[in-house]
Formats: sequence, structure tokens, C-alpha cells
Amino acid sequence: MRPPSITLFLSLLPSLPSLTHAATLQQITTPFGPNPRNLTFHLFVPDTLPSNPAILVNPHWCHGTAQAAYSGSRWATLASQHGFIVIYPGSSPSSTDQCWDVSSAETLSHTSPGGDSLGIVSMVRWTVDKYRADASRVFVTGVSSGGMMTQVLLGAYPDVFAAGAAFAGVPFACYAPSPNAGAYGYWNAECATGKVVKTPAEWARLVHAAWPGYEGWRPKVQIFHGTEDEVVSYVNHEEAVKLWTEVLGLGSKPVRVVKDSPLRGWTKSVYGKSGWLEAYSAEGVTHDIKVQEDTVMQFFQLNCTRDCFSWGQGGPGSKCRS
Ligand SMILES: *[C@@H]1O[C@H](CO)[C@@H](O)[C@H](O)[C@H]1NC(C)=O
Ligand SMILES: *[C@@H]1O[C@H](CO)[C@@H](O)[C@H](O)[C@H]1NC(C)=O
Repeated sequence: MRPPSITLFLSLLPSLPSLTHAATLQQITTPFGPNPRNLTFHLFVPDTLPSNPAILVNPHWCHGTAQAAYSGSRWATLASQHGFIVIYPGSSPSSTDQCWDVSSAETLSHTSPGGDSLGIVSMVRWTVDKYRADASRVFVTGVSSGGMMTQVLLGAYPDVFAAGAAFAGVPFACYAPSPNAGAYGYWNAECATGKVVKTPAEWARLVHAAWPGYEGWRPKVQIFHGTEDEVVSYVNHEEAVKLWTEVLGLGSKPVRVVKDSPLRGWTKSVYGKSGWLEAYSAEGVTHDIKVQEDTVMQFFQLNCTRDCFSWGQGGPGSKCRS
């Protein structure tokens, strides 16, 4: 994406400043807050930003890097077009296969925080502060291990995120060893192969255990999964639907099912009157699922620069929930 020739061409057109971006991925090496696993912090800030910009966090997949996530999707291009900041975290040097820590007791907790989730939240807090970003419009999306981390962040830090979109991930805490020994970098083969099946109430209990007594804002959720996923079983999609419908109080039946959305063979199921959960089942698709930036953009309203929170009521930190 963004081949140099096109960038050069656009830079010769002074009438198109908003399409020209010299901005590149930068690494933040100054201290940015608690980061117990020494994650690396990479940031894309477009040349032109609205006041109070939104933030998108895009954790990479296993064997991935911040740089690979940056060049592997259209997020940076969209950020330049619509004026938001993208955080690309890099996994811990001590991680196994550059997978995220989605299994430790700390990463799954708000009240005893730690692990990779805390490091990523520190990046968000630093960016909100430094760029006067809109703390009520912080979003997260990722694929595979990044999709798992997306669900971890939504469950443990509902006060930080307005919404998240997970591709080929697993439900919050599905990777936790049983009993939870607090292991970092634990590849939970049982979960990956679809053998961890719980009731909605059991799943919800895990999310509530992350922050006992919390009754505030809960982020909207989008999940996408291929029915032929050979790495992270499709069962995890069904389990995640159980988890989020229960946590968000949406009822177990979709209010709307839309065929061929956004692609042919993909089925979109919408839960709750205000569509707080959208679950996309991608027929015949393997683990190599294609990120649907436009569908996610629309769900997050990331193309909006003014009065942007029409689907929420105050956003994270507010007591209200639709
Ligand atoms: C993080 O870095 C510190 C200081 O170099 C080191 O002591 C610690 O072991 C590192 N932790 C991890 C999880 O890599
Ligand atoms: C954002 O995208 C949505 C859906 O495509 C569209 O309805 C809306 O008008 C767009 N808003 C802006 C400010 O471009």
C-alpha cells in the first residue's frame, strides 16, 4: 500500500493536501507508563488531525510485528484520510512466537492489572494525553492473536474502549490455563481447537471477575470468523457470541440477520436493539480471513469528525449504556 510513486505523484498536487501524507510509523522510546512486559510502542499520527482525534489500536497477529500490522492493512491510509491516530503495539521480547499475552491472570484483570493488556492501555493513555485525543473514542481491532487481544482489552478495560472488532479471535479468558496458573504466552490448544465450551453465564462470570462490581460503560463488539478456520476453531465464534450477548444483556437471538454482508457468503447477525454486537460468519473462509476495514470503520464511526458519538451515550467513563 501507499507505493512511493503515488505518494510522489500526490505530493506534486498542492490542491490535495489531505491526501498527501509524509507521516510514517514512529517508535515511542520514552517511558509511557506501566509496561511490565516491555512491549514496544509504535504510533502512526497523520500530518493533519482534527482537534480531539479518535484512536485506533491494532495489535498484530502471532509471528507478526507492529511494522507488519502497519503495512498489512489500510488502517494508516484511512487514518490519514479521516484524521485519527493508530497505535501499533509490538509484543514482548519474551513472548513466544510474538503472540500476545492473552492468558495471564494479570492481563485478564482490571483490578490487579499487568501483562500485555496493561502495556497497551498505557500506550492509549499516553497518546490521549500527548495528542489531546478523544478518550471516549478509543477503538481496538486485530486478527488472530490480535483478535484475541481485542477481546481481552474489551473485557478488562471497558472504561478505555468505545468498541472493538476481533477477527478470528477467541472469547475473553478462553486462553487462561485451567486452573488459572497465571502463565504468560500460554498456547491454549483446547481453546484453539474449540474444546472450551461454556454457558453464557460462565463466560460472563469471567468478564465480571476482571473488574468485580463494575457496572459502567461496556464497549460495542464486532466479531468476524471463518467457518473453515483451521487454526482457531469457529467454535470460538459461537462461544464469543454467548459471552458478549450475556455481558451486554442483548438476548441470545439476533434481531437481524443479513446474508452476503459485507462479502458474498458472509452472514451478519445483529444482536440487541441498538446493534451492540455484530457477529459475522464467513462461510468457507479459513484462518486467513480478510480484514474488513470499511465495515469496521462504519461500526466505529471512524469517518466522523464532529458529534461523533451518535451510537453511544457519553462513551467510556459514562454511567449510561444503550
Ligand atoms: C523488561 O525489562 C526489564 C529491564 O530491562 C527486565 O528486567 C525485565 O526482565 C523485562 N521483562 C520482560 C517480561 O521482558
Ligand atoms: C461515514 O460513513 C457512513 C457510512 O458509509 C456514512 O453514512 C456517513 O455519512 C459518513 N460520515 C462522514 C462524516 O463522512
